[in-house]
Amino acid sequence: MTSPDRYAVIGNPIAHSKSPEIHARFAAQTKQNLSYERLLAPLDGFAATVREFIAHGGRGLNVTVPFKLEAFDLATALTKRADAAGAVNTLRFDGDVILGDNTDGVGLVNDIVANAGVPLTGKRILLLGAGGAARGVILPFLEQSPAALTIANRTVGKAFELAQRFSGGSLAIDACAFGELEDRFDLIVNGTSAGLSDDMPALPASLFHPGVLAIDMVYGKQPTRFMQFAAQHGAATRDGLGMLVEQAAESFFVWRGVRPDTAPVLAALRALLQA
Ligand code: ATR
Repeated sequence: MTSPDRYAVIGNPIAHSKSPEIHARFAAQTKQNLSYERLLAPLDGFAATVREFIAHGGRGLNVTVPFKLEAFDLATALTKRADAAGAVNTLRFDGDVILGDNTDGVGLVNDIVANAGVPLTGKRILLLGAGGAARGVILPFLEQSPAALTIANRTVGKAFELAQRFSGGSLAIDACAFGELEDRFDLIVNGTSAGLSDDMPALPASLFHPGVLAIDMVYGKQPTRFMQFAAQHGAATRDGLGMLVEQAAESFFVWRGVRPDTAPVLAALRALLQA
């Protein structure tokens, strides 16, 4: 057998990354001859580490914290969705071309639509947060033709900036502060990083009730504070593990042209997380 094509996830820190477990399962399932490792880059050595990986036969990388903006700058070609996100989580090396893509947003959309079974067309979406994670999902959301999209953020000016950047299509995007929010949403997406510090945005409880799906981009052993609050008030909840597996599947497709079946991999990851 020929030697496997090399892929990796690059970040700092990187030891916690679940991407190798996910991609090993995708490769086994689709019979793709590839290896996938963890690559720790020094904080001041992202580009050099990528170039060395390419020189040693690397074919593609997933990029995680804190290098998604540097990956955006390093790319010599960008997909539309990476350009809109302003960040790159997937690199593909084609000869001299470093293609930068972003699969986070489409990963979230696929998790909601395919895994949770909730179509976004005609829905009223509330996006919490205005940082990199939130920005990355706006274009994929708009492509689903929702009825409304509102961005709310602690620093409200950043919500207005994002809303303005993505308005101009057929949908006007609203922006506001958390305290101004009123109950009119079908889907509430927490794109803030509050869950990482066991916190949540200061939201009115009236937003959450049966019929609302509350989804956090963060995941952990336990439901996040945001999910607990939403569930207490009757909303359905979902964490970010499905998004993680779906963004990986989309990266796998970008590299290999093959779409893995994500359901068994998500189930295996959930079991690993709970173990
Ligand atoms: P990321 O790449 O995860 O999006 P980021 O670009 O630093 O990280 O953005 C973090 C987001 O989470 C921001 O929207 C931030 O709000 P501010 O713009 O007001 O800083 C939001 N955030 C972080 N901690 C938060 C908390 N405890 N409550 C509410 N919002 C929080």
